[in-house]
Amino acid sequence: MATATRNTRYDDLTKDELYELAQERDVDGRSQMDRDELQRALELADQGPDAVTLLEAQHERFRELFGDFRGLAKRPSQKKQDLVRTMITELVKHAEIEEQIFYPAVREEVDGVEDLVDEDLEEHHAVELLLDELDHLSVEAARYDAKVTVVIENVEHHMEEEESDLFPRVREQLSEERRRALGGAMEAMWKVAPSRPHPASPDTPPANMVAGLPAAALDLGVNVIRYARKRIRRG
Ligand SMILES: [Fe+2]
Ligand SMILES: [Fe+2]
Repeated sequence: MATATRNTRYDDLTKDELYELAQERDVDGRSQMDRDELQRALELADQGPDAVTLLEAQHERFRELFGDFRGLAKRPSQKKQDLVRTMITELVKHAEIEEQIFYPAVREEVDGVEDLVDEDLEEHHAVELLLDELDHLSVEAARYDAKVTVVIENVEHHMEEEESDLFPRVREQLSEERRRALGGAMEAMWKVAPSRPHPASPDTPPANMVAGLPAAALDLGVNVIRYARKRIRRG
């Protein structure tokens, strides 16, 4: 869905200029590309990050945060509380963009993943219940560290399953263009997604979002904002 504006921008550029831009954007395989291939790769990059790459990068970030937690001393500390607060916020947002954009799209468009997605939603639900408890628990509480450890173990298991079962099928069956459209929509939603756990709120998108899923990322963006306003009003 390259727009006229986007084409015009790159149409005027030489191969060297396009190559320089591709270098700045870290486009894979750029040194093997001719002028038109460079232009096409830049147009694709403009649509947004690959949805799977974006989710994998967030998983890596969680592994780093979990490692930081494991490195902390047993005693309660402000540092521990801040780290767990960051974990809660980012895990809730990650779950939200998967539940509202990624899972519904792959359920519709990728063969044989329905059971995987259902299991993923249940795992999200279990973790969100724990995150909600943790959100209301003092860092001084006797089983604070134990609860964080159970969250970490659950999330590690869940991420491994997504990475070995779900993501490869998405990469295989969805085009790069589609994956980038979803990635762009998830990036937009990340900014407005809730940061506190709400385990009782729906883990599938409202009807207007499902209807909007096959549409372009920009249309999704509009739905995302509408959806976010609704959720904010709901509290
Ligand atoms: Fe997930
Ligand atoms: Fe994930």
